[in-house]
Formats: sequence, C-alpha cells, structure tokens
Amino acid sequence: MKNQEKGEPTKSIKTFFDNISPHFDNWTEILQERVYGDVTWEHLKKYIPENKNSLILDAGGGTGRWAIPLAKIGYKVILCDISKGMLRQAESKIRKERLSDRIKLIEEDLTDLSFSDQTFNFVLCEDGPISISDSQKVVSELRRVLKKGGKLWASVIGRYPLALAKVGTNPEGALKLSKCEINYTSYKGIQNSRVFNAQELQNLFQQNGIEVIRVYGNRIVSPLLEKNFGR
Ligand SMILES: C[S@@+](CC[C@H](N)C(=O)[O-])C[C@H]1O[C@@H](n2cnc3c(N)ncnc32)[C@H](O)[C@@H]1O
Repeated sequence: MKNQEKGEPTKSIKTFFDNISPHFDNWTEILQERVYGDVTWEHLKKYIPENKNSLILDAGGGTGRWAIPLAKIGYKVILCDISKGMLRQAESKIRKERLSDRIKLIEEDLTDLSFSDQTFNFVLCEDGPISISDSQKVVSELRRVLKKGGKLWASVIGRYPLALAKVGTNPEGALKLSKCEINYTSYKGIQNSRVFNAQELQNLFQQNGIEVIRVYGNRIVSPLLEKNFGR
C-alpha cells in the first residue's frame, strides 16, 4: 500500500480541523446533520454500558458532540483529539455545561495512543476518524485500549452514499467508488479519506479481533439535500 493510501497525513488533519474548529458546530445544526445526530443517539443509547461508573473513550471526539451528552447522563469520559482547535472548542462548551469533573480532554493521535491496554469499558469513534486517519492503525489502537468484553462504537465514511452524492458532478469517480475500484477519495475537504461498505468495515474489525454485533446505515440519502434545506 502506498503511503498516500493510508489516510490523511497527521499534520494536515491537525491543520484542517484547527482551521474549521471555530465553525464546526454551526455545520452540525443543518437539518441533515440533526437527523444524523438524532439517529446516532437513538442507536448509541442501546449499546452504552448500563453501569454509570464505566469509563468511556471518545476517540477523535472533536468539539464534544458525544462526550457532553454522555457526561450529562452520568458517565466519565476521556475525549482525545489531535486538533488543539477542536479541543479548545470542546473545553469551552464543557466549562459552560459545568461538566469539567466528568470529561477529561487530551491531545492524542489515535494511531498511537498513550493509554494502557484495556483501559476503557466503551470506546466511541464517531463521524469519521477511522476514515480520515490510517484506518488499520486506529482500529488496532482502539481495540488495544478497550477492556475485554467492552464495546466499540464507530462510524466511517460510507462508500455508496458518497458515490451517490458524486454522481452529478463526477460520474466516473462515482462509478469507480461504487465498483470498489478506489478506496480513498476527497470528502468535505479532506483529500485522502478511506471509504467503506458494510463488508469492508466488518473485515477491518474482524481482522483486529473484534466481533461485529451490528452494522447500520446513516446519512444515506440526507447528503443529497440542499445544504441549507430545513434551516
Ligand atoms: C468529523 S470530526 C468528528 C468529531 C466528533 N467525533 C463528532 O462526532 O462530532 C473528526 C475528528 O477526528 C479527529 N481526528 C482525525 N484523525 C485523528 C487522529 N489520528 N487522532 C486524533 N484525532 C483525530 C479530528 O481532529 C476531528 O476532531
């Protein structure tokens, strides 16, 4: 595998998210993102541990979209991210919500985590870090820090929704994506993102010794809506 095929280089991930961090949460307010958020939360609730003393890792947790609601219902969360900008946004929100005693923020690279083996009861890696970075290394690290019997929750960039979204502007690229002829493409400004279909994702997890309990699709049709639809 060539280097550029192993996800985006760390330095450009940092720069990209540092630059968009002040506006990242505005983007989560558009209708398609709210639908994605609600659907995710409804599913996620079924898999988070019953025991509120469980320690959760929000890996690539960004501005705290998931760490904050998890802390509000009683969990202790460690949110790690590679972007100082995203962490700063998270910090300000967490302070306002008075959740600083429940959420710890750490600057970490998911491809090389500093946590000991089997630290967390539940690991969350939502909205693309696995697609953006070296997918193999990230999944292997998330597996390493997860306690035996713990659960890992992740979402990645879907191959077919992206192909569908590209049909109008880049039909050739869309066809290559849907026929699995290319695995890396640009997505929302990130040049080198790994796309997956359900089988490819299951393979990645199984290769890392993770039993797959469930796979579901989200953001399949909503990316086709006008950006400001429903504002
Ligand atoms: C699209 S944002 C999603 C943030 C958050 N998980 C959410 O659902 O709102 C992707 C995040 O992954 C982080 N990220 C990507 N690659 C990473 C890496 N190798 N190590 C740590 N964080 C990473 C980015 O900095 C960014 O904050």
